[in-house]
Amino acid sequence: MELKDIYRPIEKELKKVEIVLETTLSRTKNESILKINRFLLESGGKRLRPALVILSAKASQQSPSINERSIVSIATAMELIHIASLIHDDVIDHANLRHNKPTINSKWGEDVSIALGDYLYSIGFELISSCRNTDILSCIASATKAMCEGELLQVCERDNLDLLRERYIIIAKKKTASLFIASCQAGALFVNPDPLIQNTLKGYGLNFGIAFQIMDDYLDLIGKTEDLGKTPGADFKMGELTLPVLNLLTQTKDRNRILSLIKHQDSPEAFKELKQRFINSHALLKTKEDVFFYVQEAKKELSRLEDSGFKQSLFKLADYLANKMTI
Ligand code: IPE
Ligand code: IPE
Ligand code: MG
Ligand code: MG
Repeated sequence: MELKDIYRPIEKELKKVEIVLETTLSRTKNESILKINRFLLESGGKRLRPALVILSAKASQQSPSINERSIVSIATAMELIHIASLIHDDVIDHANLRHNKPTINSKWGEDVSIALGDYLYSIGFELISSCRNTDILSCIASATKAMCEGELLQVCERDNLDLLRERYIIIAKKKTASLFIASCQAGALFVNPDPLIQNTLKGYGLNFGIAFQIMDDYLDLIGKTEDLGKTPGADFKMGELTLPVLNLLTQTKDRNRILSLIKHQDSPEAFKELKQRFINSHALLKTKEDVFFYVQEAKKELSRLEDSGFKQSLFKLADYLANKMTI
C-alpha cells in the first residue's frame, strides 16, 4: 500500500500542513534564503511526523471539538524540526544526495547548512509556542534534546568495533524514535488527557521509530540509490556499526574478515563485499525479524484505541515499514 492511500483520512489536514510550511518558509524577504527554502519545499519528503501528529490526535479524540489550526501548527513544526535535523545530519554524514537531489551542504556548503538548520529549528519552536500549550512544548523540547543527543552519541561511537546491540537500540531510540514518540504524544495531548492513551501512542511511536531506523540502516546497506533517493553506504563510510552489520558480526564464521572490511571505510570494494556477505548470511533474515518484531510491538500498542479509520492508518503505516523490508 502506498503512503497516499494510508494518508487518505487526513488528506485535508496534510494539505494544510503544506500550506503552513510554504507560508512560513516564504516569509523572508531575502532572495537567497527564499531560493533555498523553495528548494526545500520542492524536495518533499514522506511527511511521516506530521501524519503521526494528526492521526494520533484523531485516533484518540474524545470529543469532536478539535482545534484543527493548532494541530496543523504542531504537525508543521514537527516537520520543520525533522527537516532541520536532516540538514545537519547531512553535514555530519558528509552526504551528497537526499530525495534524489543534492543535499544542502553539497549545493550551498556547510556554513549555509548549519545556519539554515538553526533557522528551521527556531521557526518550528515559534510555531509550537504560538499554540500556548506548555505540555506539548515541553514534550517536543525534550524529544528534540533526545534526538540531538542521539546524533551526538552516534558520532562519538563511530569506529567503535565493540558497539553492542543494546547501545545501538539506545541510539536509535534517541536519534529517531524520540521525534516519532513526540509526534504521537503531542497529537494525543491535544484531545485526550487519559494517561493510558498517552502511553499507548508513545509506545506506538517508540516501536515504530526503532523499526524505522533499523529499516533505514538495512536499506543503507543493500538498497539502491534510485529507490532511496540517497547514496547507500553512508553508514559504512562514516564508520557507523548499524544493526545489520552487528547481526552479521554475530552470525558470521569469519568475524575477522568482517572486522577487516569495516576498517576499509573508503574502499567501495570492501563495502561491496560486506553487502554481499550480509545478503548471503542469516543476518539478512535476522534484521528483517528485528524490524518485524518492533512493527508488531507498535501494532500491539494500538489495541487500546477505539476502532476508527485513523487507527487503521496507524496500523497500515507500521505495515508500510515492514513491506519496505521485502527488498
Ligand atoms: C530520514 O527520515 C531520517 C531517519 C530518521 C532515518 P525520513 O525517511 O522520514 O525522511 P523524509 O522526510 O521522508 O525525507
Ligand atoms: C539520522 O539517521 C536521523 C536523524 C535523527 C537526523 P541517518 O543518518 O541514518 O539518516 P539518513 O540515512 O541520513 O536519512
Ligand atoms: Mg545520515
Ligand atoms: Mg541512514
